[in-house]
Amino acid sequence: MKFVKFRKSLPVTAFAALLAVAVPMISAQRPSQPAPQHHAWDDKSLSPDERADLVIKEMTLDEKIQLVHGTGWGALREGDPIPARSNLGASFVPGIDRLGIPDINMADSAVGVRLGAMQSRYATLLPSTLGAASSWDPQGAYLYGSVIGRELRAQGYSMSIGGGVDITREPRNGRNFEYAGEDPVLAGTMTGNLMKGLQAQQVMGDIKHYAFNDQETGRDIVNANIAYKAARESDLLAFEISIGIAEPSGVMCAYNRVNSDFSCENDWLLNQVLKKDFGFKGWVLSDWGGTHSTVKAALAGLDQEMPEDIYFGAALKDAVKKGQVPLSRIEDMDHRILRSMFAAGVIDNPSMPRSVVDPFKGLEDAQHIAEESIVLLKNSGNLLPLKAPGSIAIIGSHADKGVLSGGGSAQVDPPGGNVADPHPGGARWGETVYFPSSPMKYIQKHAPNAKVEFNPGTDNASAAALAKSSDVAIVFVNQPMYESHDARTLSLPDNQDALVSEVAAANPHTIVVLETGGPVTMPWADQVAAILAAWYPGIGGGQAIANLLFGDVNPSAKLPVTFAKSDSQLAFPEVPGIDLKPVQIQLPTVMRGQRIMHNEMRLPPFDVDYNVQGAKVGYKWFESKQIQPLFWFGFGLSYTTYEYSGLNVDSQGREVSFEVKNTGNRAGTEIAEVYASLPTAAGESYKRLVAFDRVTLAPGESKTVTLKIDPKYVSVFDEKKNGWQLLSGDYKILAGSSSTDTPLTGGFHIQ
Ligand code: BGC
Repeated sequence: MKFVKFRKSLPVTAFAALLAVAVPMISAQRPSQPAPQHHAWDDKSLSPDERADLVIKEMTLDEKIQLVHGTGWGALREGDPIPARSNLGASFVPGIDRLGIPDINMADSAVGVRLGAMQSRYATLLPSTLGAASSWDPQGAYLYGSVIGRELRAQGYSMSIGGGVDITREPRNGRNFEYAGEDPVLAGTMTGNLMKGLQAQQVMGDIKHYAFNDQETGRDIVNANIAYKAARESDLLAFEISIGIAEPSGVMCAYNRVNSDFSCENDWLLNQVLKKDFGFKGWVLSDWGGTHSTVKAALAGLDQEMPEDIYFGAALKDAVKKGQVPLSRIEDMDHRILRSMFAAGVIDNPSMPRSVVDPFKGLEDAQHIAEESIVLLKNSGNLLPLKAPGSIAIIGSHADKGVLSGGGSAQVDPPGGNVADPHPGGARWGETVYFPSSPMKYIQKHAPNAKVEFNPGTDNASAAALAKSSDVAIVFVNQPMYESHDARTLSLPDNQDALVSEVAAANPHTIVVLETGGPVTMPWADQVAAILAAWYPGIGGGQAIANLLFGDVNPSAKLPVTFAKSDSQLAFPEVPGIDLKPVQIQLPTVMRGQRIMHNEMRLPPFDVDYNVQGAKVGYKWFESKQIQPLFWFGFGLSYTTYEYSGLNVDSQGREVSFEVKNTGNRAGTEIAEVYASLPTAAGESYKRLVAFDRVTLAPGESKTVTLKIDPKYVSVFDEKKNGWQLLSGDYKILAGSSSTDTPLTGGFHIQ
């Protein structure tokens, strides 16, 4: 029996004693759930809320408590028992058999379903969600979610716990690849559509990590301070938009504190903003180990403790009996869980492992999304698309074998193992994992007569020598990122900058392909001819990169994050807390049903002052500080050119229209971007993205693009009124191909 190592493993000594007696309970054949009986709530003409209430009427207090916590770390932590009916995912909540309520089996599935190898299951690795956000394609995001949803269902899961939408406040955050960029409108729209697509497969969805979980350094302890107005106009707006689009079953509260209270016991975040203001009807589940109290958390709006029952098991029952938590609050928790299960269809049609996933369909979809996600950042002298070079040097990043993936709980197990470092079993925590999609193989396919040679890029001189003797050199550079860890700097690791410089000095036709978790610096940007940002491109990455390099696909993606020139340009030149020394602290956990204390090394508590940026995240920061980054948000090139003309803005600023023309000689898809500057009274020295669209155009073709502007996106958040407000005054509208290339200007006036 194999277990996946989890970073939250208890110290070896604590385990040694317990392992001797711990008996993991995986049965070869999992017991099936009882045959359905007739119940009043089977009536599908009733609303999910009515059906949930009918169930709750029949539930005992123990059953009510049973639904509001997980049953342990299970498959995630070596040596922990695994309940017999668990699907071996991140969490298991037993159903209530006598009432016909099925189990909830949750799976990490940010970029594909996690923990496949343990059961020899295949799961499609999609491009990183940050990559997918570069497509600015809500339909692509929907497709992304549906791939994950259909694979979850095929494997017997009823809930995804992916759905990260924390905006890129900290560009070195180790989890940026699981999120959707720095702009709340883009990130919220993309993540919302992703979750909508996932839930359309009759699987419950989740949006996370609520909120301000914008760095991994000290994530369990850091206290993010931010003023309410700025909070609502930035990170919380991304949540508001995605939750509004997807109506997810769950929202996962984050590990960190926000304005002093832990996110999972933060009345303002949970009760006031999420449930009241956003009208969220689903349930709040804590991040794994992110619950810190019973009464405070329950009253603040936490509905389910994950993955254990330290605070929401016997302790919660006790608090109800003592009158510290009203029974109605427990019933509200249950209601939220049950109504979400009814709404998603997992009670009427429970998920059961019944089919194998279709890897070919998954690959096709992943490749399509990757082709829409790879951003062309530079193309001097139109070196790309490649024109039948006689010889091609491929350098670095195991590009002969595969493509990089992101690590942590978003890690998908590679089919056949890590091509860069094969070993039995699934991916290990913190391991740098390459998937079997060889860019070199597909490059060779596109250039069957070319001499294509590989150099691993570990010796700069030999890489440069190969580049010198080749017509074209393609250097693949990498930035492996994973959960629980931030990059110390935006620089590429392992001295790869020197590798690129030396190769570029040897061959003027040097192309760099970035495989990174987020933005990186490129001190060599002026020296190379072309740059492609491929993010973590997923299982179809090799094919997609080759298709773009050779022009079978015309690049259309635009950056969802600004690339700084250096760390010193950022609001925080260093990741806050990164130099703090870890200290030993005692934490509770449950081992074999017993609450025990164990020691962990964690950073001491510290604060991060997000008021430094306020709502000015990403391009808004650069614009207001008048700093010129390396590449702006919204930027991306194509193999054709576009022209914008004829902007019309309606008098209330609700709708804009303009023409986009393809002025080149190749078909292409242009992402048209619309920004707004608010009246001076707003005091904003930056513009905001307010609308966008993808426009596909044949050579010479032009189309009228008509876009609605949500009034919220041009409003300020009024703290006193606790609502969005349109200010009186003159609004400016800018439209064009990036946040800095906006040839069209117009405006509207609000009295
Ligand atoms: C992560 C979550 C994840 C959970 C379960 C936590 O450490 O922050 O995103 O869903 O673990 O694996």
